[in-house]
Amino acid sequence: MSGKDRPSGQPQQTQDAPGGVQDSAFLRACRRETVPHTPVWFMRQAGRSLPEYRKLREGIAMLDSCMRPDLVAEITLQPVRRHGVDAAIYFSDIVVPLKAIGVDLDIKPGVGPVVEKPIRTRADLERLRPLDPEDVGYVTEAVGILTRELGSTPLIGFAGAPFTLASYLVEGGPSKNHEHTKALMYGDPELWAELLDRLAGITATFLQVQIEAGASAVQLFDSWAGALAPEDYRASVLPASAKVFDAVASYGVPRIHFGVGTGELLGLLGEAGPEVVGADWRVPVDEAARRVGPGKAVQGNLDPAVLFAPREAVERQAARILESARGLEGHIFNLGHGVLPDTDPQALTDLVSYVHEQSAR
Ligand code: CP3
Repeated sequence: MSGKDRPSGQPQQTQDAPGGVQDSAFLRACRRETVPHTPVWFMRQAGRSLPEYRKLREGIAMLDSCMRPDLVAEITLQPVRRHGVDAAIYFSDIVVPLKAIGVDLDIKPGVGPVVEKPIRTRADLERLRPLDPEDVGYVTEAVGILTRELGSTPLIGFAGAPFTLASYLVEGGPSKNHEHTKALMYGDPELWAELLDRLAGITATFLQVQIEAGASAVQLFDSWAGALAPEDYRASVLPASAKVFDAVASYGVPRIHFGVGTGELLGLLGEAGPEVVGADWRVPVDEAARRVGPGKAVQGNLDPAVLFAPREAVERQAARILESARGLEGHIFNLGHGVLPDTDPQALTDLVSYVHEQSAR
């Protein structure tokens, strides 16, 4: 990002000087440069595993909390203070931009996003108008607060990828088999392509808003893409995700592409255009890097359930990942999916220290 695009009030030196954001271990690893230690952050590091989060959220609905810049900033900062992670992830949800354009959805505790009237016909598509940056002014405000508060710690912006968003919209809620989604994808390829194209536009704008407000990197979550065979992902999903990555390429911030159960799709996730590909625990990091191909960093990949085991067992599994990543250019330590709500927060803090100590160079 050029100097003139920086939000006023954001000190330049925390951006570019040695010891500033651009020199952070996380951004250096994204760019496949040498690092003082392997950077680590956790998907879903903010949220229900933290007692301070649960306290702050008491009596406030999830989507309401996402629209309050003061709350968003505080919740985003909580895991950074507690765990000493190398990056913050903006507190929001993948369905926030859909809510912002007026889709009748809610996040039901213990269930996930639920859509009152699923989107399944051409007429339904009309409910997906483009996102105007002004629809999410609270995001601009919260990111502005955060980039000032975070100092030299990078902020990761994020959005849901078109396929994963489509799954919630078409199914009407969380789904194990994605049957309505796949029926539409195979049954009406033209309508499907239009649906994904609209979602790509909304997602691209949502990421642009976060980057323009000061986010240092972005992650596209295609959490449910692993439900697809490679040839179907390539034909029916990749073009829309590539459109999102293209739309934010010119900002020059690292772009991360992540999905669950995507061992067979890792090469295609890379083809969509990001600098970094996230892998879950089903594929070792070195093998993931081989599948992603040269020139890209890899993020991952401790099974979040391992954190329920005793500390020594967690450390053995973390050591295995660091060993597998030895010799790779660009490794960011993370879980293979989000932090589970019942995780002991101390296990996360201990894991951050362990990764930092073991990888110090
Ligand atoms: O710290 C962070 O990672 C930032 C916060 C974040 C949330 N959602 C907050 C949240 C992020 C990155 C997300 C992304 C998200 N949301 C994804 C992609 C990541 C993934 O897990 O694959 C998906 C698929 C969703 C959809 C969604 N929203 C689900 C499945 C749920 C859980 C439902 C439940 O209650 O079990 C949500 C709700 C949600 N998003 C919560 C939080 C903290 C829980 C709501 C609460 O705290 O009351």
